[in-house]
Amino acid sequence: MSKQNQTVKTLVVAGLLCFVCSVLVSVVVVTLRPQQAENAELDMKKNILMSAGLIEKGDDINQAFKSIETVVVDMQTGKRVENADVEDFNQVEASKNPKKSVKIPASKDVAGLSRRSKLAKVYLKRDETGKINTLILNQWGKGLWSTMYGFIALGPDMNTVKGFGYYSQGETPGLGGEVDNPKWKNLWVGKKIYNEEGEVALEVVKGQGQGQYEIDGLSGATITANGVSDSIEYWFGEHGYAQLLETVKAGEL
Ligand SMILES: Cc1cc2nc3c(=O)[nH]c(=O)nc-3n(C[C@H](O)[C@H](O)[C@H](O)COP(=O)(O)O)c2cc1C
Repeated sequence: MSKQNQTVKTLVVAGLLCFVCSVLVSVVVVTLRPQQAENAELDMKKNILMSAGLIEKGDDINQAFKSIETVVVDMQTGKRVENADVEDFNQVEASKNPKKSVKIPASKDVAGLSRRSKLAKVYLKRDETGKINTLILNQWGKGLWSTMYGFIALGPDMNTVKGFGYYSQGETPGLGGEVDNPKWKNLWVGKKIYNEEGEVALEVVKGQGQGQYEIDGLSGATITANGVSDSIEYWFGEHGYAQLLETVKAGEL
């Protein structure tokens, strides 16, 4: 065989191999996509339930999530949006979309979030009389290195914390990353957001937290801890969920 023929053959074989491999990879990507989407959805359901202490290890996530009602609300009025696409609405993405969000006035932007979505996606559980006994809210804020995304769950008085947790954060493991430590997250349970005067009082302090409004600090991670406090102050302030909580307390959601 001539040298030229051999080169052509090598190129054809290499080309065919590339083609077959790329087809295989494409098929795998396309066929796995629905599975990946399903897994991501299941993971989010798990985070929502975990943030409210509504599942334990080994529980069936989809089964547990059946008791949860998902509602889209207007942040300004605190009222339910009847015709909203509840399934597909993503509050975090909406907050980055200028058409679906509003600028947070500088005086109220204590957490440095810049924009907030016009609508919020909230998760709730009712007791047998229909009264909401758990409300789970999206909350996020800036740490030292990252924006930390999570949920906070409130009990029937819409003031007592039922649970708290992040599903995505990029703080330093062992320092700011301790926001994921189950022991620290447990400190939130039973604490109160608002004081007697109706002001947002809950905060992460330096050292050991005392009383109903203080959470232990994260040693060597004061910047992350301050970011957590600032995000609580924003989300429960008048530009955040305050109006929604009034609607819930009035039994109108
Ligand atoms: C490699 C490295 C990683 C750090 N990661 C964090 C962090 O995730 N969160 C944080 O608040 N501080 C972190 N710090 C420390 C901050 O720079 C700062 O010193 C600290 O927040 C002060 O908190 P303290 O008063 O509790 O020591 C890190 C420092 C270094 C050198």
